[in-house]
Amino acid sequence: MTKILKTITNEDLYNKTILIRVDLNVPVINGLVKDNTRIKSLIPSVMQIVKKNGKVVICSHFGRPNGKKVEKFSLKPLLKILTKEFGMDVKFSPNCVGEEALFKKKRLKNGEILLLENLRFYPGEENNDDEFAKELSSGCDLYVNDAFSCSHRKHASIFGITKFLPSFSGFHLIKEIDALEKVLKKPKKPVVSIIGGSKVSSKIKLINNLSKKMDYIIIGGAMANTFLASLGNNVGNSLYEKNFISVAKEILEVGKKHNCQFILPKDVVISNGFKKNNKNLNVEIANIPSNMMALDIGHDTLSQIQDTILKCRTLLWNGPLGAFEFKPFDKGTNLIANFVSELSKQKKLISVAGGGDTISALNNAGVTDNLSYVSTAGGAFLEWLEGKSLPGISGVLKNK
Ligand code: 3PG
Repeated sequence: MTKILKTITNEDLYNKTILIRVDLNVPVINGLVKDNTRIKSLIPSVMQIVKKNGKVVICSHFGRPNGKKVEKFSLKPLLKILTKEFGMDVKFSPNCVGEEALFKKKRLKNGEILLLENLRFYPGEENNDDEFAKELSSGCDLYVNDAFSCSHRKHASIFGITKFLPSFSGFHLIKEIDALEKVLKKPKKPVVSIIGGSKVSSKIKLINNLSKKMDYIIIGGAMANTFLASLGNNVGNSLYEKNFISVAKEILEVGKKHNCQFILPKDVVISNGFKKNNKNLNVEIANIPSNMMALDIGHDTLSQIQDTILKCRTLLWNGPLGAFEFKPFDKGTNLIANFVSELSKQKKLISVAGGGDTISALNNAGVTDNLSYVSTAGGAFLEWLEGKSLPGISGVLKNK
């Protein structure tokens, strides 16, 4: 796929104005950016335009202001960190469209960078409104999508815009797709997925799609309880989705058809609630008392997961294995994260992870940088794994 996506590498950008869609939806607490991974990821594309003497117009959303100007969602506070990361001055336009924005685009000199205000201050953005997309394109010659993490949104700056400007793929977008294709299209076999998190309901399509491609799927987190219940186990007071028991059963059947082996917990760490340092006990699945809940995988399950991973050459990870936000229920996730990290460092395993909770869990374990690839995307990562076509990719493909 990445071979057919066109980049700006061979384009003459001299004196041209390039609108680049990036994802500046970064975690900010008390005015400080807590994780600048997304910001760092856009440097290669932006600096390529600067080097080629093009004029860079950066656009992004931030948060969910629902089509209204909401001061706390302004992108202006990010100017400081962008200036630092790019090592050069970044100008700002308080509007995305209209006379002032157009004036600022036109005043840019070759090699300069302009940041537009939050796209989602305008209802036209999320409505994929043609008028808005057209206005956004005015004063620009080319469009680059470097926001893989937003490419599942059929929004004006992601999809509609490609009607009005010759469109290209950014280097980070290509990197994300490359990594995912390594796992899904032609993985080094055997290949295993770890799928965790709380709800089967949010990952039905994803697991069904993966079961066609994986040799093993390891299920953890609260969603494992729904699978265990579907096999007739009593999961006590554990979180599970009663209405999805039959769906879980079907998923296991689909897996069998595709020769994909599901690994479910055989023992768990139980406690009486989600509380830090709560008293806990390791029990077999058959022995979960009715007033207790499973909050992490048990030690036998840990060994089983490690044995499975050792058989594999490629691993895909989405979702934590336990209630990792509450110590000591982060132990299972941390141990497996360290195990995957070591094998990846030794180049014995290609490991790709993604999704908001997964990134937090890997950060919590302190191993994020050791995996082969960690996607910056949340929703887009999941939709890609479901096998869906993403509007942000089909948009730039139209222009190839
Ligand atoms: C993300 O953080 O996953 C992207 O920026 C998309 O944000 P959204 O879910 O608000 O569209």
